[in-house]
Amino acid sequence: MEENLLQIKNDALSLIFETEDPKSLEELKLQFLGRSGRLTLAFKEIAGLPLEKRAEIGKLGNEIKKVIEDAIADRAMELKKSAQKKQKNNLDITNPGIKPPLGHLHLVTQAIEEITSIFEKIGITRVRYPEVEWDYYAFTALNFPANHPARDDWETFFTTDNTDSKKGQIVLTPHTSNGQVREMEKAVEESKKTKMPINIRMLNIAKCYRRQSDVSHTQMFHQFEGLVVGKNISISHLKGVLEYFVKSYFGEKREFRIRPYHFQFTEPSFEIDVTCGVCLGKGCKLCKAGWLEMGGAGMVHPNVLNYGKIDPTIYTGFAFGWGVERVLMMKEGIEIDDLRLLYSNKLEFLEQF
Ligand code: DAH
Repeated sequence: MEENLLQIKNDALSLIFETEDPKSLEELKLQFLGRSGRLTLAFKEIAGLPLEKRAEIGKLGNEIKKVIEDAIADRAMELKKSAQKKQKNNLDITNPGIKPPLGHLHLVTQAIEEITSIFEKIGITRVRYPEVEWDYYAFTALNFPANHPARDDWETFFTTDNTDSKKGQIVLTPHTSNGQVREMEKAVEESKKTKMPINIRMLNIAKCYRRQSDVSHTQMFHQFEGLVVGKNISISHLKGVLEYFVKSYFGEKREFRIRPYHFQFTEPSFEIDVTCGVCLGKGCKLCKAGWLEMGGAGMVHPNVLNYGKIDPTIYTGFAFGWGVERVLMMKEGIEIDDLRLLYSNKLEFLEQF
């Protein structure tokens, strides 16, 4: 019996030290200490020994059990340490690195940059004017008489009740047309200094605000406004610029048309339509008759030139104002069911662009 126990101990220890992985160590544990393990079975035999032998052999059996248990625990620790060391030494510097998430410009910012660079090429360059604006520049100087119902078309946010005797209330500008008379004032000053004729080539891109929120409106949106003033500026210049923009931004295949319309600050006034990017003018679900409305344009109203202290008998000009989000959606391949998604901060949406 004693010999048998010592044999079990030797077998166990040599197997334990030879083991190279934690799984077979677990199996050895079962093989010796499990319910039908060799040591457990030996213990059962001890129970059948005569009483005087039982205590002595039982003690030896317990000692051996402890030795095997300790050996298993030590080996388990060793295996764990060597696995960790191996992992460290296994560093393969040719493996591809872990890429940090990379952001990109918001798609509206991308559109603004593209629009800016298109107009820059023909000398119409970007300016910035206040987005929190006097009623005067947003309406009065654009030929909107006080209390005229046309003001209601621009669902304006009024910020205070304070009223300046000349400039009226303060509004969140509902359109980029507020830059027109500001630009004229600047150009008049410059022309006085340089003694050169007035020459305006303005692109005003800014945030605009209106009290409207639904699938095709956000309360904050962007417009880009063009204003060109000089001697002998005519509708043909406006058409040339429109054609150039439509082809550069939407692509050669897209056509545009000019429809008569009414705006307070232009005479004549137009609305510009562009053929639909999905059906290219044939008519489809998105556009119905093949055309999508892009926005307004026209020849600057003489009253507006007068507000800007520019003599309408010497100078003429054209203007246009379109929504950045709107042209973005009209661009081929981009269809957004709900405009509000643009400003929802949803990464699943923004990461697609
Ligand atoms: N400001 C107009 C709007 O927000 C758009 C517009 C129409 C701008 C005609 C212009 C223009 O410069 O000539 O609806």
